[in-house]
Amino acid sequence: MKVLMVCLGNICRSPIAEGVLRHKADQQGLDYEVDSAGTAAYHVGEPPDPRMQMTAQNHGFDISGQSARRFLFEDFERFDVIYAMDQSNYQNIVSMADNEAQRAKVKLLLNEYRPGSDMSVPDPWYGEADGFEEVFQLVEAACDNIIANR
Ligand code: 4NP
Repeated sequence: MKVLMVCLGNICRSPIAEGVLRHKADQQGLDYEVDSAGTAAYHVGEPPDPRMQMTAQNHGFDISGQSARRFLFEDFERFDVIYAMDQSNYQNIVSMADNEAQRAKVKLLLNEYRPGSDMSVPDPWYGEADGFEEVFQLVEAACDNIIANR
């Protein structure tokens, strides 16, 4: 299974989603390839935001080795599922798709947490530190369900 997590900057939400899903899949001995990307190029080449790294570390996850990249058209072919962190990322990715098969790969991550809710993972970038903890809790719950319902 090849899974791509996508947010805007690829330095907060999708890196934690990548790190958590990969770690949980590895723990279960599952053959998962997990990556992440951003729809915007502002932070390409940067490691995850220090606030997100710290939250990850508090929960026993190490995301420090990641490097931000932009979502590419080729990702529609490289991955089986593309999880958007919010509605805006979802619209941006779907608008790049060429055909229905590509569009069908794009899902909102939090529909794994609350099916049919179309919830977004809140963008923590401009907010307070507790926003990063909220992101972690939502993302971890969704990843637990991805593994449980595989
Ligand atoms: P992310 O958060 O999409 O979860 O990585 C953001 C990171 C950077 C910006 C916005 C959101 N920015 O505007 O630079």
